[in-house]
Amino acid sequence: MSKDAILKIEGKDYNMPIVTGSEGEKGIDIAKLRADTGHITLDPGFGNTGSSESKITFIDGDKGILRYRGYDIEDLAANSRFVEVAYLLIWGELPSQSQLTKFSDMLTDNALIHENLKNHFEGFPWNAHPMAMLSAMINALSCYHPELVDPDNRKEELKVAARLMSKIRTIAAFSYKMSLGEPFTYPDPHRRYVANLLHMMFSVPHQKYEQQPEIAKALDKILMLHADHEQNCSTSTVRIVASAGSNLFSSLSAGVCALWGNLHGGANMGVISMLQKIHEGGLDIKKCIEMAKDRESDFRLMGFGHRVYKNFDPRATILRAHADKVLGILDINDPLLNIARRLEEAALKDSFFIDRKLYPNVDFYSGLIMRAVGIPTDMFTVLFAIGRLPGWIAHWREVNEDPNGRISRPRQIYTGEPQRKYVPIDKR
Ligand code: CMC
Repeated sequence: MSKDAILKIEGKDYNMPIVTGSEGEKGIDIAKLRADTGHITLDPGFGNTGSSESKITFIDGDKGILRYRGYDIEDLAANSRFVEVAYLLIWGELPSQSQLTKFSDMLTDNALIHENLKNHFEGFPWNAHPMAMLSAMINALSCYHPELVDPDNRKEELKVAARLMSKIRTIAAFSYKMSLGEPFTYPDPHRRYVANLLHMMFSVPHQKYEQQPEIAKALDKILMLHADHEQNCSTSTVRIVASAGSNLFSSLSAGVCALWGNLHGGANMGVISMLQKIHEGGLDIKKCIEMAKDRESDFRLMGFGHRVYKNFDPRATILRAHADKVLGILDINDPLLNIARRLEEAALKDSFFIDRKLYPNVDFYSGLIMRAVGIPTDMFTVLFAIGRLPGWIAHWREVNEDPNGRISRPRQIYTGEPQRKYVPIDKR
C-alpha cells in the first residue's frame, strides 16, 4: 500500500509523502506542492499546518498529554524543579548533579545587569506595562553583550542561556520596582532562582522579604508548567524571527510581545479581571455563561478553551490541585477561587462548552495561585515569560541547528483589487 497521500487537482494525481512522528502523529509533506501543482494551501490560524519537525515537546491534545523531551509533565511536576527542567528543554537530557550545579552557579553568577542598563528604566513612564519594559529591555540587553550576539560564538551556549535566564529575571523584577517607584533590589547570590526573583521583587531597603518556602515552591511549579508548549503563538514567533538569522535577544524579545496578547499569555491577567468583575459586580454565574455563548457579546470565558487540548489541559489539572493546596497552606480564603470553581462547574455542564470541547486551560488557575502568593496582576504574564524562556531558547537553538532550515515565509491568496492604473489626484 502506498505511503503517500494523493491529491487530485483537475484530474491529475499528485503524490505527497506522509511523515510520521515518533509518537505516531502523521503529516502530509507538501514541500513541493507549489512547485509541482502551482497551488498553495490555505490554513488561517495554522490549525492544520506543521511548521517544522521538532524534538522538544510532545502534546496529544485529545488525550491531554504533555511531555518535555519525552518526560510526562506530571512526572516532572512531582519530581523536578524549574531550573532542571530548563536544562532538560535546552540541552535535551536531564542534567547530572555536576551539570546542574554548574548551570545553577551560572544563573547565580549572571544575575546582575550592567549599571548603565538600569538607566534605561528611567525612560519609561512609571505606569508602563512590565511586558513592554521586558521586551524592550531584552533587546537593550543585547547592546551590552555583543559577544553573545555573534553567531560564530556558539561554544558559549550554556553561558548565553544562563545569562539570559538570569538577567531577564532581574529585568522583570526591576520593571516591577519601577512601577512601584521603589529602589531596585539587587540579586542575592544565596537564594535559588525563584526565591531570588521574589527577593528582588519584594525586598525593600529597610526590610528583607521573608519567604515562606511554599511560595517559592508554588511559583517554581508554575514556571515549570509554562516552560514549553511546542508551536504556540509566541514560540512560533521566536522561531520565525530566528529563521531570519536574528540573534537570541531579538527573537526572545519578539516572543515576549506575542505572549503579551490576551488570547495567549495575557489570558492569565484576563482571568483575574473577569473574576474580579463578576465578584465586584455581583454577576450571576449563569448569566456569564450565557454571555460567553452569545456571539453578539464580546465576553469570552478567559482561561477556557485551547487550540490543541480537546480533552483537558494537563497543566490546568496540576494547578487546580495546587491552587487548593497553596491557598490552604497560606490560609487564604479568596472569593475569586470560589467564583472560578462555580464558573468551571457551570461551563463543564453546558452543551456549548461540551460540544466545542472547551476546558479550563493553564491560565485559569495560574493567576489565582500567583495572586495568592502576592504577585500583582500586571506581573502575571511576565512570570509566564520567565517560565517560557527555556522553551524559547530550545526552539531558537533547534532552528539554528537545522541543516535544512529556511527562512519562514508563508504565502497568501491575494483577494485585493486586480491591476489598475494610477489616477491623478485631481481626477479622483
Ligand atoms: N469562551 C467562549 N467561547 C469560546 C472560548 C471561550 N473562552 N474559546 C473558544 N470558544 C468558542 C468559539 O467562539 C468558537 O465557537 P464557534 O464554533 O461557535 O464559532 C469555538 O469555541 C472554537 O473557538 P476558536 O476561537 O475557533 O478556537 P481557537 O483554537 O482559535 O482559539 C483560544 C483558542 C485559546 C484562543 C480560545 O479558546 C480563547 O480565546 N480562549 C480564551 C483565552 C485564553 O484563555 N487563552 C489562553 C490559552 S492557553 C495558554 C496560552 O496558550 O497562552
